[in-house]
Amino acid sequence: MKALILVGGFGTRLRPLTLSFPKPLVDFANKPMILHQIEALKEVGVTEVVLAINYRPEVMINFLKDFEDKLGITITCSQETEPLGTAGPLALARDKLADGSGEPFFVLNSDVISEYPFAELIEFHKSHGGEATIMVTKVDEPSKYGVVVMEEATGRVDRFVEKPKIFVGNKINAGIYLLNPSVLDRIELRPTSIEKEVFPQIAADQKLYAMVLPGFWMDVGQPRDYITGLRLYLDSLRKKSAARLATGAHVVGNVLVHESAKIGEGCLIGPDVAIGPGCIVEDGVRLSRCTVMRGVRIKKHACISNSIIGWHSTVGQWARIENMTILGEDVHVCDEVYSNGGVVLPHKEIKSSILKPEIVM
Ligand code: GDD
Ligand code: MG
Repeated sequence: MKALILVGGFGTRLRPLTLSFPKPLVDFANKPMILHQIEALKEVGVTEVVLAINYRPEVMINFLKDFEDKLGITITCSQETEPLGTAGPLALARDKLADGSGEPFFVLNSDVISEYPFAELIEFHKSHGGEATIMVTKVDEPSKYGVVVMEEATGRVDRFVEKPKIFVGNKINAGIYLLNPSVLDRIELRPTSIEKEVFPQIAADQKLYAMVLPGFWMDVGQPRDYITGLRLYLDSLRKKSAARLATGAHVVGNVLVHESAKIGEGCLIGPDVAIGPGCIVEDGVRLSRCTVMRGVRIKKHACISNSIIGWHSTVGQWARIENMTILGEDVHVCDEVYSNGGVVLPHKEIKSSILKPEIVM
């Protein structure tokens, strides 16, 4: 089987992290987002993943070359010369996706995190005889997603409305699809949206089906959702493979610590923390609900909550970082500095406190 992952888009809502890496390569739970997806695809027998890409392809290609061999899966790129939206890239990759086998293929948004129940998706898709299956999930705030109205008993989709202005329903498109090759005949090679132009058309032909995704789901393309997503991911890890979570007197709740990270004495860490490869957390540090990416150093007695600390940054002694502070790559926060929701661009040195949420350039 094949899969296409939509990795275009500029990831503006996840800046400043996406100023350093394309969104799919931003680490989530100590691993680039896209690797969570590629590993899960491999598990259900996908042999080739096509990355639909329009932004800094060289970075993605170089990075994923290593993983092709490690994972034993073919990863190819389909590069757009102009952004083709969420459907155009399928037309561009047509020859790779429709290989004559007639098999359905996966399409994924690159920023969604879940348990990826792909095996269940394949089973459901085979059972209904429609052209396309999308996974859906329930959310409290459906307006920022694609909303699906479906027949409960069969899963047949009556309506698909992208980012509705008025309430349509609370089941939303999870950005995980299984499509028959015939869907490609509905898509022209031009910038076009699968959500606005293709799904409504397949639904009108009564050939679009939806399956409620079991387990958790989150679009982690925005900082607040990213932090919530980490909590849900770690909860699920606790149920499925608790041995991967950290233990000890200094740990509260679910905490993921990379084996190469070093944690000092007298720290209190958790809940819902991920500490990446090569990080150094000095003595007496307090961390909760945060992600600390590869190569970060957190000096003594610093306190970090509800924040993301970008690659190779340093947080000074007694510093206090909170309220959705996002430090880009290689940011240096001086000793005793306070950050209340600062969004700090890469390579900055922060010498004075950031008292209210603001962007620091
Ligand atoms: N190759 C390519 N080219 N990919 C693109 C382009 C493009 O021009 N534009 C966007 N993408 C990719 C993004 O990288 C992302 O993986 C995916 O398409 C969806 O784009 P987002 O920008 O993340 O869309 P969204 O989050 O507002 O909405 C989408 O996801 C929701 C679920 O998270 C829609 O599919 C909604 O219907 C859905 O509910
Ligand atoms: Mg998104």
